Amino acid sequence: MSCPLHAFDPFDARYLADPYAVYAQLHAEQPVFYSESLGYWVVTRYDDIKQILRDAHSYASRNATDPFTPVTAETASALREGGYAMQRVLLNADAPLHTRVRRHVAAAFTPQRVARLAPRIEALMSRYLHDIIAVPERQVDIVQALTYALPAEVIFLLIGMDSEDVPAVKAGSESRVVFTWGKPTPEQQVTLARDMADFWQRAVAFVEKRRLEPRDDYTSDLIRLRNDDDTVLSLGEITSVVFGLLLAGHETTTGFLTNALVQLLSDPARWQALAADPTQIPAAIEELLRFDTSVIAMRRITTTAVTIGGCDIPADSNILALIGAANHDAAHFTAPATYDPTRTDARDHLSFGYGAHYCIGAPLARLEAQIVLRALVTALPGARLEPNQTFDYLPNTSFRGARSVRIHW
Ligand code: HEM
Repeated sequence: MSCPLHAFDPFDARYLADPYAVYAQLHAEQPVFYSESLGYWVVTRYDDIKQILRDAHSYASRNATDPFTPVTAETASALREGGYAMQRVLLNADAPLHTRVRRHVAAAFTPQRVARLAPRIEALMSRYLHDIIAVPERQVDIVQALTYALPAEVIFLLIGMDSEDVPAVKAGSESRVVFTWGKPTPEQQVTLARDMADFWQRAVAFVEKRRLEPRDDYTSDLIRLRNDDDTVLSLGEITSVVFGLLLAGHETTTGFLTNALVQLLSDPARWQALAADPTQIPAAIEELLRFDTSVIAMRRITTTAVTIGGCDIPADSNILALIGAANHDAAHFTAPATYDPTRTDARDHLSFGYGAHYCIGAPLARLEAQIVLRALVTALPGARLEPNQTFDYLPNTSFRGARSVRIHW
């Protein structure tokens, strides 16, 4: 069956403000369609997306970080001149390369390494909380005061980078989001490309520093594991993994913590339930991941002709899998538009992906969310969202989190 076109604009501010209204309409009217403006087949159903993520052979990841806006000649030369040399390692790599890199990168990301971060994340959170509580007006932009920077500091603790680089890394990763998943003008694209190349050079210099002076951190573990053997991992691959984590490891968690706080604080009963019984936090986190995740779309490219939801799709077709829509599919989740932390299947969400590319950082993201929520509900049980605020999002297809959220207590 050939499938009709559907007007769908993932960069539209109204869509970003409430993608769930669009998803409900798509589920009812056109769960799979071709978007001419994007050049992508868009898939919204839970079962279809799970099947796509499960079958890495028919659905490759090599397009996962292709810029949606084609790179101009001037941009390409800005990247070249800046020495940008990111290699395919994880998100946009396929077997057998992905299998090799992932095996080593996952082996070094041990549960012990994550567990050892817990007291350090708690100490960081106490520091942030101390500053928040000291604000005499008893109101803050919680993104600025907490969720923007804390996840980046955690990634720095993990990889062993100095935290004074936080502002540069946060700005650098926003450039990468807009460059790769957004719709920059040709002029913006050149500027973003220069930022990306600078950011890449930081990663190169950092990995070289750790090669010369290894420490007790994840980057040094990867260098030790490599043991000067390029068939295990090359230095370029390690640099690319670190560069990848300097986006995947915090932009995602910043968005998720922010969305979670918006959802919890928008209804005092939700917040007070957690304040009264913080043991409910892990279940609430799973439901929040389902209800309002921060990575709403992933990409794949077909390696063979396929049929999805009755639509015949040729080989070499780009696919945009709307994870946010899968998490709100009424065919899988009962009353998907209702926040219900007691639902027993919340953990079926696809917010960390599924299959070969399943999120390596999921245990760390869950740990951070638990520490942050527990500390906040305990210290500020009467916190509320400032009424009448509208939220603004970075225009891009995949990473979604409000950029400013005012709360008071
Ligand atoms: C709430 C926070 C997070 C969300 C929603 C999230 C979401 C995702 C998703 C959906 C994927 C699958 C991509 C695909 O199938 O193409 C993924 C992969 C990945 N994530 Fe996360 N992530 C989060 C936090 C983290 C953290 C904290 C780290 C690192 C410490 C991390 C590192 C990665 C890496 C390296 C991959 C690529 C895995 C591969 O391609 O084999 N993520 N993440």
